[in-house]
Amino acid sequence: MVIKPPVQGLNGRLALAIAAAAFGSAFQHGYNTGVLNAPEKLISQFINTTVHERTGSYLDEGTLGLKWSIVISIYCVGGVIGALLTGIIADKLGRKGGLLWNNVTVLIAAVLLGFAKAAGSYEMLIAGRFVIGFNNGLNAGLTPMYLSEISPMHLRGSIGTVYQLVVVISILVSQILGLEPLLGTETRWPWLLAVTALPAIFQLATLPLCPESPKFILLNQGKEIEAQKSLTWLRGTIEVHDELDDMRAEYEAMKLVSRVNLKDMFTSASLRMPLVIACMMMLAQQLSGINAVIFFSTKIFESAGLDTLTSQYATLGMGAMNVAMTLISLVLVEKSGRKTLMLVGLGGMFIDVILLFLCIKFQDSAAWISYVSIIFVILFVVMFATGPGSIPWFLVSELFSQGARSHATSIAVGVNWSANFIVGLTFSPLLIAIGPYVFLVFATILGLFWLFTFFKVPETKNKTIEEISAFFRQRGYN
Ligand SMILES: *[C@@H]1O[C@H](CO)[C@@H](O)[C@H](O)[C@H]1NC(C)=O
Repeated sequence: MVIKPPVQGLNGRLALAIAAAAFGSAFQHGYNTGVLNAPEKLISQFINTTVHERTGSYLDEGTLGLKWSIVISIYCVGGVIGALLTGIIADKLGRKGGLLWNNVTVLIAAVLLGFAKAAGSYEMLIAGRFVIGFNNGLNAGLTPMYLSEISPMHLRGSIGTVYQLVVVISILVSQILGLEPLLGTETRWPWLLAVTALPAIFQLATLPLCPESPKFILLNQGKEIEAQKSLTWLRGTIEVHDELDDMRAEYEAMKLVSRVNLKDMFTSASLRMPLVIACMMMLAQQLSGINAVIFFSTKIFESAGLDTLTSQYATLGMGAMNVAMTLISLVLVEKSGRKTLMLVGLGGMFIDVILLFLCIKFQDSAAWISYVSIIFVILFVVMFATGPGSIPWFLVSELFSQGARSHATSIAVGVNWSANFIVGLTFSPLLIAIGPYVFLVFATILGLFWLFTFFKVPETKNKTIEEISAFFRQRGYN
């Protein structure tokens, strides 16, 4: 009798490669996204007193607010640059090589962030945020690409979802560590920021044990024997002929066409449509209003009568729901498919955000309405985690064959970070200008992305990359 593993194709070595790549990179991304929420007042006051020590005068609210928003937003600028360099780095150093080298930037950032207070320099904070942003932008491109390339076809979506799973877990970890009894104090906040070095050390210890992506070795470097070794290691069996044959066929097909350059991405009809789809899914994730709702959550909880501490715990509960739903979507993505989950998620968010708008608009007319809005806030996050949170990261890898994948990833992830940057800059002014109507703006955007997904996005579940790119060629898509 043959005992089957619980999930076909998953074995200890593949799990190690997934953990080494995802934990060592997505942790940086999630952690640094969330880490400055809790200690905002502490770090602002540090900037204020630093300036006072240098110049003898304190900062007024406007100038301090401006310096703080630089600390926050320079992170996305670094992210955009890192993302745009993904393609070059992934092809020159490899997926694994790029990830390993990227840990150098984490260590630099951790030193800058961790010693800024001791050195009395808020400029070090700004520099550190830029460097860690660069690291995160690059990770968000390299890791989903590596994960997708080492996965067996029927697990590609689940393994790709691990990236977002680690992101949401580490956002939660950053919020918990930022609480006052832990690292959220005047003396301990530098430690809170320096924690980001730990996953880098983990990755430096584990990823060298894992092989480079077999697809990269064969299709980019043309080394057949090494590719076979890598695949054998990852699958835990020497019976990898079928998979290797598929890769070889892709290699032969690739040799017939000229190398894809950046310009082809925009001019070739069979590349342009998948690129538009990948970028639209990235935009759907960032423009959905998720950050706005999370930003609003504490206020909504407080207006429902929860005190500040309870509201903080409710925010943590919301983060936990995000983790739980992302975990569920990791299974669903191979059963229902990517397109279905994107449609359910975006559609659910669309309806939810309209109801949330009504609740906020009429919350003074009855006490129970505030409680209902708590439910809608949590449901919004759950719907986000169903698909829009995780799928865009790995879908771009699925939509392109080897020759175009790294360029496509660069562009799509660059679009993601740019949108993140723009939402961060415009949300507050928009909120001041139009108040809760900002939720209707998000509803409109969600509706449009739902329609786009319904009409244009193909299902990629259980299809080989060759089948997916053949689909775009045949459609003569324009
Ligand atoms: C800066 O610090 C001083 C002294 O603690 C305080 O009076 C002032 O309000 C602070 N400025 C801002 C904008 O918080």
